[in-house]
Amino acid sequence: MKKIKWFAKELSPNMDGERVRVAGWVVRTRDLGKIVFVIVRDSTGEFQLTFKKGVVSDELLNIAKKLTTASAIITEGVIRKAKTKFGFEIIPEKIEVNFSATPLPVDIIGATETELSKRIKWRTLDLRRPKAVAIFKIRSLVVAAIREFFIKNNFVEIHTPSIGIYSAEGGADVFEVKYFDKKAYLRQSPQLYKQLLVGALEKVFEISPAWRAEPHWTTRHLCEFISVDAEIAWINGIDDVLDVLEDLIIYTLEKVRKEGKGCFETLGIEPPNVPSKPFPRVEYEDAVKLLKKAGIPLEGKEIPGKGEEWLGKHIKEKYGTDAFFIIHFPYEIRPFYTMKLEKNGKTLTKSFDLIYRGLEIASGAQREHRYDVLKQQIVEKGLRPEAFGYYLEAFKYGMPPHGGFGLGLDRYTARILQIENIREVILYPRDPLTLEP
Ligand code: 4AD
Repeated sequence: MKKIKWFAKELSPNMDGERVRVAGWVVRTRDLGKIVFVIVRDSTGEFQLTFKKGVVSDELLNIAKKLTTASAIITEGVIRKAKTKFGFEIIPEKIEVNFSATPLPVDIIGATETELSKRIKWRTLDLRRPKAVAIFKIRSLVVAAIREFFIKNNFVEIHTPSIGIYSAEGGADVFEVKYFDKKAYLRQSPQLYKQLLVGALEKVFEISPAWRAEPHWTTRHLCEFISVDAEIAWINGIDDVLDVLEDLIIYTLEKVRKEGKGCFETLGIEPPNVPSKPFPRVEYEDAVKLLKKAGIPLEGKEIPGKGEEWLGKHIKEKYGTDAFFIIHFPYEIRPFYTMKLEKNGKTLTKSFDLIYRGLEIASGAQREHRYDVLKQQIVEKGLRPEAFGYYLEAFKYGMPPHGGFGLGLDRYTARILQIENIREVILYPRDPLTLEP
């Protein structure tokens, strides 16, 4: 590939005398009259341009004097060893500038951080802060690790429709879209399609957006998120799925620790520890008892965010680990496709949630693969089998026992980075009030 420019992190005093093409955004200028120093930042670091009267043309010196913070600048020049904090400077021979307006709507230089909603509005500018860059480099690393893990383990990457007529996860939180003269929905998850595909491809994964019309105002729910979905055929029960999810978490955290070192340093936080297998498993009923004792009420039968947080601390104290599973949720609070588990006279499910650093980051289950039982469960949940058309029909033709999980990429990344609000790790978050930018 042709080199368009040198990145800041590639430059060094050892390149003394070399001609380079560099580019970035002006951080600040220091004008001493006959000499102007300009600090420039790109997505990898900073460097200094030195404009000295007599060394550069008067035309260049005059442009340097007018540079505003955040102006885009492309320079061709020569590297010289110098007593700067970089150990070198660049003597420009040619520059090209796209001047930035002033004042800037967000602070990209100072120590103060502009409030989040404003920074998101001005994301392009916000991303010129090294800390913001570090967050999205870690996010990119997490996705790379996830994809690498699945491919290495013989999963097939799939892309399934975002618009359809099925409402996979039930509830009222689906977005309706006008599809020519029909009513359709944005998917809440690729759930039903990944199940159909596991009936032939055996091990599949998808990393793609999902939508929930949830009017919640929390730091962990958004209307659009990236779901990492996996589905596995021929399983013996949920242990086979938990095993894959444990390995996925370990693989991603190891890679992030190793390759994200610089980003964690920029952010001033410790890279995450890697939990060891097996992660603790807590029965839903035991989790509920613990929460009751701690005085934390459930939301119906659902474990609330506060409960996950409390359980996270409890498990950390008891087992010293950040990750654990809650298993066997009641059938009432799991979707129709989940396989039932009759236990102690109660109808539970072969299901689980993964809690990491006090937050549910993934949920999954063994699915019901027997046509008659699946149809019956659709009816039990108050849904119409006709509404599931070809999805349900496919189960007549030899579906294997299967199971899988959906992992929220945004929540996982936020927790790796010890960030409370998932909006910080999403470039352009969608919540009930935000459609732009
Ligand atoms: O628990 P959920 O709703 O499960 C499913 O979608 C199933 N199809 C998964 C499966 O394979 N059985 O969502 C899965 C994960 C959650 O654990 C959470 O991390 C994330 O997706 N998630 C959200 N993230 C941000 N905002 C929201 N509104 C989210 N809803 C779910």
